[in-house]
Amino acid sequence: MHTLQPLNGRHGASTSADAPTLGWRAAIVEDSPAMKRILAAVALVAPMPSTVLIEGETGTGKELVARAIHDASPRRDKPFVTADCASLPATLIDSELFGYEPGGFTGAARTHVGRFERASGGTLFIDEVGELPIGMQPKLLRALQQRQIDRIGGCQPVSVDIRVVAATNRDLRAMVARGQFRADLYYRLNVFPLRIPPLRARIEELPALAEYFLAKHARRATRPARSLSPAAIERLVRHSWPGNVRELENVVVRAAILSGDAEYVEVEAAMRDVARPARKQALALRDVERRHIEHILERCRGRIEGVGGAAAVLELKPSTLRSRMHKLGISR
Ligand SMILES: Nc1ncnc2c1ncn2[C@@H]1O[C@H](COP(=O)(O)OP(=O)(O)OP(=O)(O)O)[C@@H](O)[C@H]1O
Ligand SMILES: [Mg+2]
Repeated sequence: MHTLQPLNGRHGASTSADAPTLGWRAAIVEDSPAMKRILAAVALVAPMPSTVLIEGETGTGKELVARAIHDASPRRDKPFVTADCASLPATLIDSELFGYEPGGFTGAARTHVGRFERASGGTLFIDEVGELPIGMQPKLLRALQQRQIDRIGGCQPVSVDIRVVAATNRDLRAMVARGQFRADLYYRLNVFPLRIPPLRARIEELPALAEYFLAKHARRATRPARSLSPAAIERLVRHSWPGNVRELENVVVRAAILSGDAEYVEVEAAMRDVARPARKQALALRDVERRHIEHILERCRGRIEGVGGAAAVLELKPSTLRSRMHKLGISR
């Protein structure tokens, strides 16, 4: 479903009166002050030609915001072209971004138009710009400064009319300090920064997001829409969401499937997978400790105190060992 306005509210169906009226096509849930601030900034910068740098952890919605900027800009009917620096191998980045002429390198038989040129008239979305090899950075900088590119093997620079939106999940400023990212390129990109906070820092937005994904899934599966149980929402809010909104969407879809036809969607089963690695580790550690103590106690024939007692062997105070045993459910 495409909406013409950002979505608001618990069920993502209404638009608040103070929301910017933008023409972006994808629905964006905004139910936290942080997200509202970001979308208000998007509304201001979208019509401008300015470069935008979107920073945020993985799955926070950087690409969604990049598309919203394009959709709300005068370039909305022109191409939105992505150049993902993380997925392009270093050896191909140059030719993919800038293109080449026949004979530009061994095996280049035809002209290849790069992403800069393909984005002409529209928006070039440079994704994961922090992954761009340092050796390629001067060429990108030149392209951004002069709005001209050189195809590999070309004799004439080509002018490109593009709006640039870049995104990264790395701390570019720290990379500059470590000499991994050129300062001049950083300042060229950092004209209008948008920092999308992780989901755990705007957790008040989770119910609206979860309901939105639930409704979206129901529509796709042509099933009636259902709600999450209050306990389910409570459980979701307690998680730290390292994979942010994308992780939430996956959990909600899984929960909807696992809940079958129940009136309310529960999330326990769907969360089990998410929480398992951490819990398994903790359990394993407890297990190891329990087994070790039991083993020593056996060797000491159940004696805790004194010379040759388990506490001495384990280099613990007898009282500490007792409380550890109590915690781990070990009886002598
Ligand atoms: N506020 C939001 N409202 C609705 N859907 C959202 C929102 N934020 C993120 N999503 C959805 O979550 C998923 C992840 O978003 P997106 O791909 O934009 O994240 P990203 O920051 O680019 O992630 P990555 O760093 O891993 O590339 C997408 O399916 C997107 O549509
Ligand atoms: Mg992305």
